[in-house]
Amino acid sequence: MALRSRGSAIRARLATAALTLALAGCTAGDGGSGDGPFARYPETLSSWDLFVGEPADHVPATGVEPYDLNTPLFSDYALKFRFIQFPTAPDGALQPATYRDPEPFEFPVGTVIAKTFAYPADFRSPDEDLRLLETRLLIHEQEGWVGLPYIWNEEQTEARLVIVGGPLEVSWIDGSGRTVEHTYRVPNTNQCKTCHRTDGERLLPIGPHARQLNRESVYADGGGGPGGAENQLARWQRLGLLEDAPAPAEAPRAPVWNDSSTGSLTERARTWLDINCAHCHNLSGSGRTSGLDLRAAHGDRTRLGIYKHPVAAGQGTGDRLYGVVPGRPDESILVYRLESVHPGVMMPELGRGLVDSEAVALIRQWIEEMELGTEA
Ligand code: HEC
Ligand code: HEC
Repeated sequence: MALRSRGSAIRARLATAALTLALAGCTAGDGGSGDGPFARYPETLSSWDLFVGEPADHVPATGVEPYDLNTPLFSDYALKFRFIQFPTAPDGALQPATYRDPEPFEFPVGTVIAKTFAYPADFRSPDEDLRLLETRLLIHEQEGWVGLPYIWNEEQTEARLVIVGGPLEVSWIDGSGRTVEHTYRVPNTNQCKTCHRTDGERLLPIGPHARQLNRESVYADGGGGPGGAENQLARWQRLGLLEDAPAPAEAPRAPVWNDSSTGSLTERARTWLDINCAHCHNLSGSGRTSGLDLRAAHGDRTRLGIYKHPVAAGQGTGDRLYGVVPGRPDESILVYRLESVHPGVMMPELGRGLVDSEAVALIRQWIEEMELGTEA
């Protein structure tokens, strides 16, 4: 993680990474907030008062908490920085979230959740020369959650609301010294719905679950433990930001997908599928027609794709017969779609243009070691 000292600063010195803002100069009227349903939202990210000082440094304002997930969504290797702004009650106190499980926490109306996407110029020094791309907001209104994408300017002084999203040409150096160039896509506001309408109707947050938040983070303001480390759930309880929660030891805890000390191969693979796929692949999400249910918490082999015929034949199958064939990743449609970047084939269908090679290796190993069952 680049934000090693939580909330202290994102080093947004002018990056050497070449990044052209394809939408630079965009303002309201040409893809900005315009006159539509988003007209009432501020055009600039700084208007939300999430951060103090230079906006690009992401130093959280009072009432804004940084957080991390145990296993995050893959977004073309972009680093992500997440924050929650808790609303203030008339008496000046911050209004807490309510603990729930397995659903995401219940956040009060007025909550704003922010996620900033960035690339370092060189992943061998991920804390240096960060280039911020976009900051997505989920705003809890009386009627439900609203999603907004803000795109950072080249000077890194401000991000502007661009409801149509758009492509950004990016270039960075990976961990092995190779230069990677690709088109990073900021989603539009309709695409937010494809993923965040996890229950079919309302837009909902996806990450803030007990199992995902139950982890240690290092906080710039000292936190509770040595070096500023503190369990996120314990901290929120200590600060009065979380009600009705058990002690962290009693709460579920998701493994870290690429840390084998945190869970078995199956647990890590299922958790990776849960956060990367299950917002669409559940019983009511936008991928429900496929019959795949990739949530971590069920044991139905067919819903996982095991010996399940695809709903639609054609290019999305790679001529393979079943979603998952135990012991045979190369015969599994699921792997075929993870390894593709072809529109119409790749999964997830939105939110990436690169293959997550490390995760593909994990899913391959999970399928390889899966018991050869005969269940249909
Ligand atoms: C491809 C699916 C996908 C699309 C499209 C998408 N999101 Fe998300 N989003 C996720 C997932 C999965 C998470 C949780 C995992 C994480 O944060 O790494 C998430 C997390 C977030 C968060 C942090 C709070 C939370 O829900 O966990 C915000 C804020 C957010 N998204 C806003 C947006 C906005 C605004 C848009 C549209 C401009 C959008 N997202 C489009 C999948 C998506
Ligand atoms: C943005 C929503 C969305 C996300 C996220 C998503 N999918 Fe899908 N998926 C769909 C839709 C819609 C279909 C049905 C149309 C098709 O086959 O392309 C589908 C179909 C599939 C199929 C074919 C299923 C069948 O039996 O016909 C597989 C396999 C699959 N997805 C795997 C995944 C995996 C693995 C992930 C996560 C890495 C994922 N998907 C993430 C929407 C999504």
